[in-house]
Formats: sequence, structure tokens, C-alpha cells
Amino acid sequence: MSISKIGVAGCGLMGAGIAHTCARAGFTTFVTDKNQEILGKGINRIFSFIDKGIEKGKATLEERRTVEKNLTGVDKLEELIDCDLIIEAVPEVFQIKADIFQNLNNILPARCIFASNTSSLKISNLAEISGRKDKFVGIHFFNPVPVMNLTEVIKIEATKPEVFAEVLTFIKAIGKTPIVCQDSTGFVVNRLLTPYLLDAVRAFEARLASVTDIDTAVKLGLGYPMGPLTLIDYVGVETVHHTSEIMENEYHLPQYCPPALLRRMMDKGWLGKKSGKGFYVYSSTGAVGNDDELTALMK
Ligand code: CAA
Repeated sequence: MSISKIGVAGCGLMGAGIAHTCARAGFTTFVTDKNQEILGKGINRIFSFIDKGIEKGKATLEERRTVEKNLTGVDKLEELIDCDLIIEAVPEVFQIKADIFQNLNNILPARCIFASNTSSLKISNLAEISGRKDKFVGIHFFNPVPVMNLTEVIKIEATKPEVFAEVLTFIKAIGKTPIVCQDSTGFVVNRLLTPYLLDAVRAFEARLASVTDIDTAVKLGLGYPMGPLTLIDYVGVETVHHTSEIMENEYHLPQYCPPALLRRMMDKGWLGKKSGKGFYVYSSTGAVGNDDELTALMK
């Protein structure tokens, strides 16, 4: 395989998870973000995820050492110059992604493959603007990236078959299962997941049951590992809202229309687990349903 050095652009929740996963699998990995502070936070997130995993018996010291050895945080895109594959994981805003790809295209040698981890933007549109659409693919990971085994892989018409084959080999080498998907907004998972998550919010808005009981219903009644409201808090309220808006704009279907409660939560800064409050209130002793404050917010 000719892919051995990976560059990850963006060290937020997804970028950090992607960089961790590549480094853990033995790939020399460089990760970057727009400033040292964000980069440092993302790298700390990787090591605290591993350390918590070690405490829970889900990760090992050896994994920590492998990641330490293979992962380097860099503060300039120029430092990605030797990479064979760049995986972009910056916010889901077309122009931000387009600017990154255009800058990278000016810096990186022609052999380097570009991939976007977008969950909802069209790969063909990003490829077009990147200046190297024959070496462009979508690789969509799931949160938490080091744990979730799926990747949705998107080949556009212009992607060279040998480039796509190399990407599939790389994905298997990092321990993930690829599914090949058409270049369609939301791909498979978000197309199915988004209406389900939004329906859970609508069920709460209709006072069908408490936050905890809606989640318990799904966990015990359907055997899902997490309830939908926990999952929204986990992925981020603003991310779910943003993804829904993009899908609504594309498909014009009511099931993608974000409920008002999500917008109000965003306005309050209740973004879920990362902000300490969302459908649940998080503390060192655990999470409790935020029913009363959410009900007040709906008035
Ligand atoms: N290394 C380090 N930590 C690990 C680990 C590993 N290999 N494996 C698990 N852990 C962590 C878990 O993350 C969990 O951490 P927290 O207590 O901080 O939550 C902890 O160990 C205990 O895990 P559990 O034993 O309770 O549960 P688990 O390991 O069986 O499953 C889970 C955890 C994978 C998160 C599971 O609850 C799950 O699958 N949840 C659903 C996740 C999901 O649906 N993700 C998709 C989101 S949508 C998306 O990503 C699309 C997008 O476009 C953004």
C-alpha cells in the first residue's frame, strides 16, 4: 500500500478521533487545527479518551505508547507536505472546507489523496473546488471514531479506480469496515438517523415521556446502545441541528426539519455533553434529565 503518512485537518471531536485511530493502527499521523489552543485541546482529548479507556479496561498502555509514537500535532498546513492522504474534518461549512482544500492543493504534491469526513455536504462539490477531483473521495467516520467500526466511503465519477482501491485498503488497515455509498447528502447513516433523532425531540416536545424514559424506551425496546436524546447530546445539539438543516435544504422533506427546541437549546449554549448541559445535565456524579429547564424553554 502506498498510503503510509496521514494528515488530518481539524482536531475537533471527529478529527481527534480520526487522528487517534490512524496513529493507533501504526500510521505516521500529523494533525493540525487553526490554532495551538484548539490543537492542544484536541490532542488532550485523544489521550484522556485513551486514559479513561485504560481505566475501564477498554484500552491498553501499549495503545497509548503507539499513539504517542505515531501522532504529531503541527500548527501549519505546510507541515503536512509529506502526507499520502489528507483527511479533512473541519466544521460542516462548505466555504471552510473549500478554503482548506484549495490551500492544501497549492502545498501538497500531486500524488497526495484528499478525503473529506463530511457527513452532509456533496463530495463532488468539494472535489470540484479542490483542484484534484481524480484523487478525491469521501470517508465518513462515526463518533466515537476509535470505537465505531463503520466508515461510509464515497467515490465520485472522477475518482480514479486505483485511488479508490488504495483508500479501501487503508480503511481496512485502520480496522474499519467500509460501505460504499453514493454521493448523496447524508449518505446512508445520517439519512436514516436524522429523522429518528428529530422525532425523539418532537416526542419530548409533545410531552410523550420524560427525557430519560424516551431514551430507556429505545434502549430496552429496540436494543440500541444509547437513547436518541443521549446520542444528540453526545454528537452535539448544534451538529444535529446543522446536519438537519443541510438535509432539509436538499430533500425538502418535513422529517429533516429541525424542531424549535433544538434551536432554543443552541441559543442557550446547551450543546450537550461537551457544554455540560443539553437533554441531560452532566456532572461528575452522572447525567440527569434536564426536563424542567427544557419544558420552560419550550414556552
Ligand atoms: N478506547 C477508549 N474508550 C473506550 C473504548 C476504547 N476502545 N471503547 C469504549 N470506550 C469507552 C466508551 O466511549 C465509554 O465512554 P464514556 O463512559 O465516557 O461514555 C466507556 O468506554 C464505556 O463504554 P460502555 O462499556 O458503556 O459501552 P461500549 O463501549 O459498549 O459502547 C458506545 C460505547 C460505543 C459509545 C456505544 O454506547 C454506542 O455505540 N453508542 C452509539 C454511538 C453512535 O450511534 N454513534 C454514531 C453517532 S452519529 C455520527 O457519528 C454521524 C455523524 O455524522 C457525526
